[in-house]
Amino acid sequence: MIVTIDGPAGAGKSSVAQRLAARLGFRFLDTGAMYRAVAWAAAREAISWEDEEAVAALAARLRLSFDGQRVLVDGQDVTESIRSPDVTALTRHVADNVQARAHLVALQRRLAQGQDIVTEGRDQGTVAFPEAACKIYLTASPAERARRRQAELAAGGQLVSVAEVRAQQDQRDQRDQRRAVGALAPAPDALIVPTDGLTLDQVVDRLVSLVRTHLPPTPP
Ligand code: DC
Repeated sequence: MIVTIDGPAGAGKSSVAQRLAARLGFRFLDTGAMYRAVAWAAAREAISWEDEEAVAALAARLRLSFDGQRVLVDGQDVTESIRSPDVTALTRHVADNVQARAHLVALQRRLAQGQDIVTEGRDQGTVAFPEAACKIYLTASPAERARRRQAELAAGGQLVSVAEVRAQQDQRDQRDQRRAVGALAPAPDALIVPTDGLTLDQVVDRLVSLVRTHLPPTPP
């Protein structure tokens, strides 16, 4: 069974999807980490962002894998490096690259084959797994998302104002929504879950019951 979770940056998708996967006993797939890992590797190899074919070839060639929550590129653990502000800013070059997207979507489908999986990203219900049994679009107001992200950064020792976080978030939202391929949008049959005012546990509880109503019936 495939459960997709899409939504804008800061809606809490990663934490929610990880917990949901653990509660259901499903695998968890963080597809944003794949885009980040390609950006990290392209920067390491000093590939020019202008050279879209080289970026796409890199996406096809890299061995991206997951070991629990760890992200590996050609066997090297890049879990922390791919979350740096630099890599976050560069990742748009990979996300906007149509051929690189095609390679990553193909890899996502291979990783999901024969698995019960909760997969999280922007285009999981629309492009990668349009046939998924349960599609969730997780969202929250821009103000709430910026507040959460600012608190998260502050907890990690990075002091940035909510206004600054909000300005960057608005830019990312626009870019995610306007992308020619794989744009952020709810699938027509997605269940839209607004999370303003809800705790992480409340959101996860809500999703567990939504997914359970979509489980295929167990044979008698
Ligand atoms: O969810 P995240 O912040 O780790 O995602 C990193 C970037 O990758 C973000 O700019 C959106 C993009 N992305 C995408 O285009 N498609 C996905 N399925 C997942 C992420």
